[in-house]
Amino acid sequence: ETKPRVPIIWMHGLECTCCTESFIRSAHPLAKDVVLSMISLDYNDTIMAAAGHQAEAILQETRQMYKGRYILAVEGNPPLNEDGMYCIDGGRPFVERLTEMASDAMAVVAWGTCASWGCVQAAKPNPTHAVPIDKVIRNKPIVKVPGCPPIAEVMTGVITYVTMFGRLPDLDRQGRPKMFYSQRIHDKCYRRPHFDAGQFVEEWDDDGARKGFCLYKMGCKGPTTYNACSTTRWNGGVSFPIQSGHGCIGCSEDAFWDKGSFYDRL
Ligand code: SF4
Ligand code: SF4
Ligand code: F3S
Repeated sequence: ETKPRVPIIWMHGLECTCCTESFIRSAHPLAKDVVLSMISLDYNDTIMAAAGHQAEAILQETRQMYKGRYILAVEGNPPLNEDGMYCIDGGRPFVERLTEMASDAMAVVAWGTCASWGCVQAAKPNPTHAVPIDKVIRNKPIVKVPGCPPIAEVMTGVITYVTMFGRLPDLDRQGRPKMFYSQRIHDKCYRRPHFDAGQFVEEWDDDGARKGFCLYKMGCKGPTTYNACSTTRWNGGVSFPIQSGHGCIGCSEDAFWDKGSFYDRL
């Protein structure tokens, strides 16, 4: 309660905004408690009241005032083709502003699969040459929080950890927090007993589907996907894709768009 709140600058490149949408739905802790009590969210161009020159001024002010002490959170990624012209932010190529803001940050958080791996805009043939942010930010620690979008409580969990302990959480070899990404969806899936028993859904409306059998033969990517969906679940722990009757499409994995995740059945 006596520590100053950590300043966070949250930038958006090529993206769909659903990472921010996910974040504001966090139930544990509530997003409002994170924003109002734990961090100082000084810039987020999607949800801030300021716009235009006023927002620009806040961005530069925060950068100068908290040099080396703010966290740069990035949603989306920079396109490099045509000198970055496919994403203009504040009148300049996003890639320029991204590397500029990263140079004075304490650490960087890559929100979602866009910032972590590239996601849909980097899928073949990737006309804008969109790249994950670690291809252009080389000299700062980066925490990757993949998912399209990431689970709200995973996002606020990462922020809670950083603000509580004053350091980044332990990361795996790919830069993801181990506490949320060390297990596959398949490892804790409630349909796993059906997988082990060889009971599979063969068609979307067959008897196995009605009985809640395993979705592996319908293309479920749970066995190769690292994320917390089968434990943390979504919407405050209510459900997750597999519980809704659809297999995991591997949305937190690198290049999931190019790996046949959508309806590529066995
Ligand atoms: Fe949207 Fe997915 Fe990118 Fe997040 S990772 S901004 S949800 S496309
Ligand atoms: Fe594994 Fe998917 Fe079957 Fe769950 S539904 S047990 S994650 S293959
Ligand atoms: Fe994504 Fe699979 Fe979870 S599709 S939301 S990682 S169950």
